[in-house]
Amino acid sequence: MKLTGPFSQIVTLAGIPLKGAVKDEQIEIIPNAGILTQNGKILRTGNYEELKKEFSNAELEETDGKNVLLPGFVDSHTHICFGGKRSRDFAMRLNGKTYLEIAESGGGIWSTVTNTRKESQENLYTSTFENTQKLVKNGITTIEIKSGYGLSIEDELKMLRAINQVKNNSKAEIVPTFLGAHMKPRDFEGSNSEYLEILVNEIFPILKEENLSNRIDIFTEQSAFSVEESRIYLQKAKENGFEITIHADQFTPGGSHLAVEFGALSADHLEFSGENEIKALAESDVVAVALPGASIGLGMQYTPARKLLDAGVSLSIASDWNPGSAPMGDLLTQASILATFEKLSMAEVLSGITFRAAKALGFTDRGSLETGKLADFISFPTDDFRDILYYQGQLKPNGVWKNGEKL
Ligand code: NIG
Ligand code: FE
Repeated sequence: MKLTGPFSQIVTLAGIPLKGAVKDEQIEIIPNAGILTQNGKILRTGNYEELKKEFSNAELEETDGKNVLLPGFVDSHTHICFGGKRSRDFAMRLNGKTYLEIAESGGGIWSTVTNTRKESQENLYTSTFENTQKLVKNGITTIEIKSGYGLSIEDELKMLRAINQVKNNSKAEIVPTFLGAHMKPRDFEGSNSEYLEILVNEIFPILKEENLSNRIDIFTEQSAFSVEESRIYLQKAKENGFEITIHADQFTPGGSHLAVEFGALSADHLEFSGENEIKALAESDVVAVALPGASIGLGMQYTPARKLLDAGVSLSIASDWNPGSAPMGDLLTQASILATFEKLSMAEVLSGITFRAAKALGFTDRGSLETGKLADFISFPTDDFRDILYYQGQLKPNGVWKNGEKL
């Protein structure tokens, strides 16, 4: 048993519902607080001195009392396993070139596929591991990582094996997702449906055999896979017992309805979700994942986060860190920026990068500081938790704990 503290505040985020709008008054704040942990789980939070007296046999992990403690952040959507970079795309975009023009001149997702195919599994492991270390420093204790830049059987498996190597070695918990359905590879001669069928027949069984991933993602979009093509693929995914997540409504609505239809864990992007999509999501348990990093990277509208929350949707925020549309990779900065444009309360933002983000990955065991939950928490050098969003990502954590262990 270990008592960590004292902290000027512990922000537990306990008692906030999974869905809908949240007021800042709903944030539970314990002043002069401590947190008691055992075997990687939280036993109690409370007044530090009282906990110290009551559990006098607990090992003490003492801090200077000048920090705020929060649940560890969860980044439920990243593409941080890749080769190369896309600054040339970015320069073209700044010069007004369209997505299509950039793709046709050798940029876009396909250029990352070409560069990722050139990398060995070991190199991908190394670079991806480094990316996770940056995330951990920024307080992310659970990280989802997608494949989707291999787009051949061999290269998708190489990516997933590299991601699983990271999973075995990272201090953060890593959640691998299969995104072979990112786009039809340019060197594939058949149709979209034929490509998806190969993923089902050739890769799904290996995902199971090697325990590489239990999550299937697809980019449902006119430029990638249509709603009809996606539906057939997702049906197979469901039959095979995979969890589902969808790149939905990024440029045109459609994917979010599929997410509802299939009971997906999450529908991500949603920049182009309208009233119908928002209503459908509100009537479901699908977590809506806003990706402000992609809006910033592409210079396009944000996900209608305010409307989603007011309709009763569970809104989460993720970084979408990838070499094309979202190279920044800073969840806290992006969440703070989304908040200013969408008028989100601090309670909504903090919920969106902790327990609601965990739910987007199917986890209910983390993201708030409550008895029985994982002892994943982070401290910031301030006496007022509001400073964290106020400084828009520039106030960095000075302590990160995963399963009760300080990293
Ligand atoms: O989430 N929308 C599709 N996929 C990624 C972008 C990938 C890329 O441009 O490399 C996204 O934004
Ligand atoms: Fe993405």
